[in-house]
Amino acid sequence: MSLVDLNGKKALVTGGARGIGRAIAAALAQAGAEVMIGDFRLEEGARTAGELSRETGRAVMAERADVTRLEDVFALRDAALARLGQIDVLVNNAGWDRLTPFLKSTPEDWQRIIGVNYAGVIHTCYALLPHMAERRQGAIVNISSDSARVGSLGEAVYSGAKAAVVAFSKTLAREHARDRIRINVICPGLVDTPLLAEIQAQDFGRKVMDAVTQFIPLKRLGRPEDIAGLAAYLVSDAAAYITGQVISVSGGLTMAG
Ligand SMILES: NC(=O)c1ccc[n+]([C@@H]2O[C@H](COP(=O)([O-])OP(=O)(O)OC[C@H]3O[C@@H](n4cnc5c(N)ncnc54)[C@H](O)[C@@H]3O)[C@@H](O)[C@H]2O)c1
Repeated sequence: MSLVDLNGKKALVTGGARGIGRAIAAALAQAGAEVMIGDFRLEEGARTAGELSRETGRAVMAERADVTRLEDVFALRDAALARLGQIDVLVNNAGWDRLTPFLKSTPEDWQRIIGVNYAGVIHTCYALLPHMAERRQGAIVNISSDSARVGSLGEAVYSGAKAAVVAFSKTLAREHARDRIRINVICPGLVDTPLLAEIQAQDFGRKVMDAVTQFIPLKRLGRPEDIAGLAAYLVSDAAAYITGQVISVSGGLTMAG
């Protein structure tokens, strides 16, 4: 038996259509889990689910859901429970950002950033924790960002939302330890995904990212798989004594205490 064994586990991954979420869905399925992807990109989500099912031989499926909308999240939970029977693992990965100096950002930007990156995590936890608590079993991983720990140029509201995810996760880890639910946070650094490509397509975003990239001790951007391995480990029984922790995966870019 391998260290990370997810056979028999059922997982819900938000934002699993592409990027880091896709790699996490793949890693969970490779380790034996059945996976439901919840993403507002339904076509891409369904395509990803089909590809991962074929690659891993596990059931991987997708439903459309916008995590900023609580009613969508309830419907996603119900669909996942109807198709999988239970949810043991929740990975809150859906996120979004656009690099803009704070005073040039708009209320619409703030709303979308807080809605996806913070409210989305509140919504899924609110929807799934009662089910996990009832079964006295669950593991949640929330994808934050290194910007939550050290700040990041052009990402004031995003950094704040991601820091909120850290504090929220630690609090829930305390509240639900008695239900045998573990909650941990991963803070990626710069990871080569479609989102990063979109940010680099903007002049300001490219300048900031180019500057930051020079300071990565391991001298490369992260790959989605770099994040996925840790996520699979954290939701597995191998991590049974780890909860309320915040772990950076950033090639050493930040070495926060
Ligand atoms: N790429 C990086 O450098 C980086 C760094 C730090 C943190 N992160 C975080 O990692 C996570 C994944 O980022 P990524 O780079 O893979 O992004 P991505 O845009 O490549 O993928 C994000 C996925 O989330 C989905 N999504 C976005 N908003 C949604 C919503 N409202 N409801 C449902 N699904 C939604 C998208 O459709 C997409 O499939 C995000 O939380 C992001 O903030 C990324």
